[in-house]
Amino acid sequence: MFDLLAMASKFLFLQIIIFSSIVSPLASSSRVFNYPAVFNFGDSNSDTGEMTSGLGMGLDLPYGEHYFKKPAGRACDGRLIVDFLMEAMGLPFLNPYLDSVGMPNFQKGCNFAAAGSTIMPVTPTAFCPFSFGIQVDQFLRFKSRVLELLPQNARVDEYIPAENFFKEGLYMFDIGQNDLAGAFYPKTLEEVLAWIPTVIEEFESGIKKLYDSGARNFWIHNTGPAGCLPQNIAQFQTGMFGKDKTNVNKFGCLREHNMAARVFNLELHALCEKLKTQYPDVNVRYVDIYSIKYDLIANHTKYGFESPIRACCGYGGGKLNYNINVACGHTVALNGTKATAKGCSNSAAYVSWDGIHYTQAANNFVVQRLLTGNYTDPPL
Ligand SMILES: *[C@@H]1O[C@H](CO)[C@@H](O)[C@H](O)[C@H]1NC(C)=O
Ligand SMILES: *[C@@H]1O[C@H](CO)[C@@H](O)[C@H](O)[C@H]1NC(C)=O
Ligand SMILES: *[C@@H]1O[C@H](CO)[C@@H](O)[C@H](O)[C@H]1NC(C)=O
Repeated sequence: MFDLLAMASKFLFLQIIIFSSIVSPLASSSRVFNYPAVFNFGDSNSDTGEMTSGLGMGLDLPYGEHYFKKPAGRACDGRLIVDFLMEAMGLPFLNPYLDSVGMPNFQKGCNFAAAGSTIMPVTPTAFCPFSFGIQVDQFLRFKSRVLELLPQNARVDEYIPAENFFKEGLYMFDIGQNDLAGAFYPKTLEEVLAWIPTVIEEFESGIKKLYDSGARNFWIHNTGPAGCLPQNIAQFQTGMFGKDKTNVNKFGCLREHNMAARVFNLELHALCEKLKTQYPDVNVRYVDIYSIKYDLIANHTKYGFESPIRACCGYGGGKLNYNINVACGHTVALNGTKATAKGCSNSAAYVSWDGIHYTQAANNFVVQRLLTGNYTDPPL
């Protein structure tokens, strides 16, 4: 284990040297944070209702309670990072691609992100059928329908993007967390690390399909510190998958999960550099969500947050207040008694909303830090 840690940190170190020696010639010519439309791809971190529409499933209160005042298809008590980013761009919240009623408006973009989705193609037993490759295909279908409809009816342009928005729009990505979290169940850390390049290759092929269709502005989030999510801590530190119970750091986060996330991020960052070299007409921005979230967890007191690895909406109390059998908002029979996972009264002081997803307050913190410009490459 220690050898592996040493090896991995050497790897990290090398990569950092490589990155810092590449100075992007495109940095100064990059756009400001101002786009006519946004096309988003990802998992529950940026799903604005895709899975609730696609699977007909509910996310009940208290989901949504602190902003929408009702469930809003988001795995959060309020707004997600993508919602705060849309606000910062002066654009409306993104409608999910699969929204079929209520006259969804896609003029300023469309959201293909679906809770539970992975970069890798899904297995037959996966909860979410909309892996990254399918989201990209959905986008291509969306675009071809838009281009077909635009000349037919002048009024549709109030509901769908103008043709030039596909070239000038921003393509945002936040995906990979479920690939990593899922991989730790069957795989060892060594196996997870060895598999990461396969995941990155799959991501690259989706990005290339989008580039070939005319996308030029890419905004790519890296993945957060998965080892600090109460669900992973509960499952791997004390749960049935527990391997090495002492393998947590001083914040209570799983070292192995965080290391896998960091290695994934280094390879994702390297891919961004490769894309810039390969396609001189592309704007690729790598967005370091990991550092912001990890800083929030490490320095939570300074930022006005309480225990960062304790779920606000969960069951069981204690350090994590998380029980995988009792989902936020649900009541189940546990050992013959009724157990309910309720929301806490002060979610604004919590980092974790439901043990897997961040609270609105934490999402807002992430975006405010992000907009300082210091966490993207090239900087904002
Ligand atoms: C916590 O804050 C200190 C002081 O600002 C900073 O040096 C450190 O890097 C932060 N920790 C993390 C994990 O970002
Ligand atoms: C249910 O009972 C089992 C066995 O007595 C115990 O280990 C477990 O902690 C109980 N679960 C809850 C949620 O009380
Ligand atoms: C961002 O970087 C600038 C310039 O290096 C620095 O002055 C500022 O304090 C940084 N902001 C944050 C929030 O770290």
